Amino acid sequence: MKILNLYCSMTGNTGKIAATIEASARQQGHDVHTLQVVAKTDPGQINMLNYDFLFIGSGVYSWLPPEAMRKFIEDQHKIYAEQGLIKAASPRLPGKSAVAYATYGGPHTGTNEGCIVPKYLGQLPDHLGFEVVMEWLFPGEFNLPKYTVHSVGGRLGDIRGRPDEHDLKQVEQLVSGVLRFRQ
Ligand SMILES: Cc1cc2nc3c(=O)[nH]c(=O)nc-3n(C[C@H](O)[C@H](O)[C@H](O)COP(=O)(O)O)c2cc1C
Repeated sequence: MKILNLYCSMTGNTGKIAATIEASARQQGHDVHTLQVVAKTDPGQINMLNYDFLFIGSGVYSWLPPEAMRKFIEDQHKIYAEQGLIKAASPRLPGKSAVAYATYGGPHTGTNEGCIVPKYLGQLPDHLGFEVVMEWLFPGEFNLPKYTVHSVGGRLGDIRGRPDEHDLKQVEQLVSGVLRFRQ
């Protein structure tokens, strides 16, 4: 399959997940294009519709994706809408699937403050007709010293060092499983 591995990572945590997705999908023989979204990423440089499978992920900031990712999605949405590709009732596109995921700290309300992001990120592919087959959440420590207290004392408990080796092993397993679903 042709796979788009799209992510935005402000402090590197989601980048670790995305790198593992890329390696695992390649190991299964898929053709993977990874794109890191940053503030200046040109929204016209990729077309999701050119891919069979999409991974889309980011960190969580005030229960939303970071601004660079929100802007990228808004601009991409505009492009598809202008081309008439956002249709009433979002008809399914056969053979096109997606996974949306987030890394998050959950310091205040735990999974409740993380779960909005995979929903948010899954909406553009869903509008285009992709089936969002899974949503994943992974703990991600706060990489700013002044927020260490949130990495230790939030609802997720002590998440220092996450995502760690064990989390990345889990990502490998998840990637292998979800891509098997499409074969
Ligand atoms: C400045 C800052 C604000 C954050 N705000 C939240 C938040 O509101 N909710 C949350 O669950 N996690 C929050 N986090 C934790 C991040 O979502 C988590 O560390 C994530 O893994 C970062 O991913 P990234 O490095 O790929 O951007 C915050 C982290 C930082 C550094």
